[in-house]
Amino acid sequence: MQSCSRRGHSKFWQISGGLLIVIATIAVCAKASWATPAASGPQKVIIDSDPGTDDALAMLLALYSPELDVKGISIVAGNVTADMGFDDALRLVSLAGRCDIPVAKGADHPLLQRLVTGTYWNGANGLGGAETPSSKCQGDKRFGPDLIIDLVHKYPHEIVLIPIGPLTNIALAVRKDPSIIPLINGVVLMGGSISGGNVNGAAEYNIYQDPEAASIVFNAGWPLTMVGLDVTEKAAILVADAKKLEAQPGPIAHFAATVARYQISIGEATGGGAVHDALAVGAVVDPTLLQTKYLRVDVETGGEFARGETVANRFGTVEKSVPSGDHWDTIGLTPIQPNVHVGVGVDGRRFIDMLITRLGAH
Ligand code: BDR
Ligand code: CA
Repeated sequence: MQSCSRRGHSKFWQISGGLLIVIATIAVCAKASWATPAASGPQKVIIDSDPGTDDALAMLLALYSPELDVKGISIVAGNVTADMGFDDALRLVSLAGRCDIPVAKGADHPLLQRLVTGTYWNGANGLGGAETPSSKCQGDKRFGPDLIIDLVHKYPHEIVLIPIGPLTNIALAVRKDPSIIPLINGVVLMGGSISGGNVNGAAEYNIYQDPEAASIVFNAGWPLTMVGLDVTEKAAILVADAKKLEAQPGPIAHFAATVARYQISIGEATGGGAVHDALAVGAVVDPTLLQTKYLRVDVETGGEFARGETVANRFGTVEKSVPSGDHWDTIGLTPIQPNVHVGVGVDGRRFIDMLITRLGAH
């Protein structure tokens, strides 16, 4: 991730004597949101997922990236039911020969609302119709959020959490054991948007699916990077990429090619198919793929049209108003603290090339 995207905002204010004064100058400056331990081997990660076509590509990218060490996978209801997602995830780790990775089923439904699955976006089997053999791996018996809690305590200050589904499991883990918050190196999630939604005009699916859980995660106080639609829609997989995968002999390449063709057929990204979740993994593999801005982001949990929107404050301030006769008067600005490193730029082609090369080799 480009380490520091500095932007200043100055606002001038006219006081009664006609004098203009600067009320606020806020620098919004992003630091790398997680620290990779120096010379200590691959980055340990936990993936929380609702597989899901792009989830499947994300998981496989993580499994075939030497920069990462996948310590566990927790499954949440979202694109598909938690049962189907659990089965799909076990098929994928089995296909990759990685039965050593614990896969645990988590929440069956969002915290407060009814689940909305996405057959249209993921096909009837959740994997865009890509066939996989039954899994040879056994699922972990723990509840997904408990697996997260256990792994964070086992590897304190070493884990980057990569949530790529609705944030229900993460919120449940934080609620049950808030002591994990300072023990996590960073959270790099796929979700949200500061430029419009994909479910409706305002909300992106992962946040829309469980806004209350998202609000808990966005306010937890840990280093958080949001890989939202602002960047994922600019990293499209193209027909030429699918052809490259189809030319390779391996089962992972074959699987990825089928999913790529499905994604292209529904055409969610600019000029091609979306692989949203894979970019969150890509950003942990290679932080230079993203440019970010450090902004205050709040999740809309009410609203008639905007429930589930991630609302970003561009200026780092809110107006300060006081009663003045029969109205309120704005007398200045109150600074607010940023909480999210928002992905605003991406080297989409470099990322897709990395994805294709890595999955194509197996
Ligand atoms: C997100 O929603 C899901 O459908 C995808 O898997 C991705 O996580 C994109 O909005
Ligand atoms: Ca997902």
